[in-house]
Formats: sequence, structure tokens, C-alpha cells
Amino acid sequence: MWRQTAFALAAVAAVISTARPLAAADKPGSVDVPQLFATTCGFCHEGGGRKPGKGPKLAGTARSDAFITDRIKNGKEGRMPAFEGALNNRQVKAIIAYIRGLKEDGQ
Ligand code: HEC
Repeated sequence: MWRQTAFALAAVAAVISTARPLAAADKPGSVDVPQLFATTCGFCHEGGGRKPGKGPKLAGTARSDAFITDRIKNGKEGRMPAFEGALNNRQVKAIIAYIRGLKEDGQ
């Protein structure tokens, strides 16, 4: 009985562990946000968003999530490109969480 249960658990664990890479790629936690930010936004928002560059410093922003979402999706004509098609909602949310987590003092 115990052996059968253990075997069943091992089988389930095996299935879960082989399924994991796919499932994880779908979760916000698995998005490498600092990397995503660096490659997508870092050209203009320097220091990972901690310093002003071509675009403003984002750390410590008082903007709402709605404002930031809108800016990322629609950009700003002539200044910042729109990322609507390039980033999915999860990625946008993950980037906002990343911005909120930045320390303002450049550390
Ligand atoms: C080509 C340069 C460029 C890139 C790339 C860029 N931005 Fe911007 N961003 C700007 C500029 C310039 C502004 C200021 C626009 C304005 O005049 O309001 C801005 C403004 C913003 C704002 C609003 C700041 C505020 O408080 O007004 C946010 C949030 C933002 N960017 C996030 C991002 C994110 C996230 C990415 C990557 C997905 C990104 N930006 C990529 C240039 C860029």
C-alpha cells in the first residue's frame, strides 16, 4: 500500500518536473524582469530605471499603475515607442512591479 502510494507520488512528481519548464515560462514570476527592462527600456531609462537618460528616471514614480500601463502600451509620440504588441499583460505588470521595487537613491 505504502509502496504503491510512493510510486504514485514519484510518478506525479516526474510528470510535474517534466511539465514545469513550460508552465513556469507562463508565470509572471519566471519573467526575468531586470533583463527584460534592460533590453527593452534600458536604452532610454538608464541604470535599470534608476537614473534619467533619454527618458525620465522611473524609480520612486508617483504615477498610477494605470498611467504606467498606458505609457508602456501606447508610448508617447515622438518620445517613447509603444510596446503594445511587444509585451503581454503579464510582462507589463511584472515591469510595473519591478519599477515599484526600485530604490530611488540609485542603489
Ligand atoms: C526610445 C526611448 C525610450 C524607450 C525605449 C522607453 N522609454 Fe519610457 N519614456 C521615454 C521618454 C522620452 C519618456 C518621457 C515622455 C514624456 O514626455 O512624457 C518616457 C516616459 C516613460 C514613463 C512615464 C514617466 C513619467 O512619470 O512621466 C514610463 C512609466 C516609462 N517611460 C516606462 C518605460 C518602460 C517600462 C519601457 C520599456 C518597456 C520604456 N519606457 C521604454 C523614452 C523611452
